[in-house]
Amino acid sequence: MEANVPPKRKEPAKSLRIKVISMGNAEVGKSCIIKRYCEKRFVSKYLATIGIDYGVTKVQVRDREIKVNIFDMAGHPFFYEVRNEFYKDTQGVILVYDVGQKDSFDALDSWLAEMKQELGPHGNMDNIVFVVCANKIDCTKHRCIDESEGRLWAESKGFLYFETSAQTGEGINEMFQTFYVSIVDLCENGGKRPTANNSASFTKEQADTIRRIRNSKDSWDMLGVRPGASREEVNKAYRKLAVLLHPDKCVAPGSEDAFKAVVNARTALLKNIK
Ligand code: GTP
Ligand code: MG
Repeated sequence: MEANVPPKRKEPAKSLRIKVISMGNAEVGKSCIIKRYCEKRFVSKYLATIGIDYGVTKVQVRDREIKVNIFDMAGHPFFYEVRNEFYKDTQGVILVYDVGQKDSFDALDSWLAEMKQELGPHGNMDNIVFVVCANKIDCTKHRCIDESEGRLWAESKGFLYFETSAQTGEGINEMFQTFYVSIVDLCENGGKRPTANNSASFTKEQADTIRRIRNSKDSWDMLGVRPGASREEVNKAYRKLAVLLHPDKCVAPGSEDAFKAVVNARTALLKNIK
């Protein structure tokens, strides 16, 4: 008689515990983004986070159950003393700015600097997944940081980038899903970023040039030549930029607009140079 052997059960994948923090200026919508994802609701009244808010949530990534400890930080400088001890042992950072507040975008670098300082000289930020949320995209009238500018900043640092609205919910689930999958990939890869995400697919020179073009004050400045430069100088500068930024060669966010602006600047300058 055959033994009645029960079918072998597949071992469940190990559960994982991760720590995630939110960062960004006061009032950019950090708490609302988390609330929208965890509680599926939006609160329009501003209730400043006092120090830190802490919550736990469970999510499923592939066959793994992930226990997420979320530390939602206060953005106000007043709370620096409270939040500075929460930076360590973090696997994921949600870095938020308000697309209608340039200050909050410009402040992203100082948030990274604060974290780096608190982690100390032995702290390693390369094994942390960062997702940048360009939040409040529902406020289209007040928008002053466009998608390519935000994406360029994020992707040139190897960070994820999402356009979000905690009010409408747009982008929120996709952002968290991709964020958690990236954290699990990182953990499964021994804390090293999977090679595909290791570096941006464009160079620092390309990113810096696009930023410079965006901030240039006139056509001379855009081409990087002195006012009154000769046709040859203009053409030489143009050719260099065209090679660097040609949309067939350059995939950096904003490269197409920068390339068009350079073409127009050259045309405008050559019209007036004998
Ligand atoms: P601190 O806790 O002080 O650091 O601020 P915070 O970044 O957590 O901001 P919070 O989530 O409290 O939101 C600030 C204000 O922005 C609130 O009045 C929210 O209702 C509003 N807000 C947040 N997200 C959005 C959004 O996507 N669209 C719009 N229109 N308003 C939003
Ligand atoms: Mg808050």
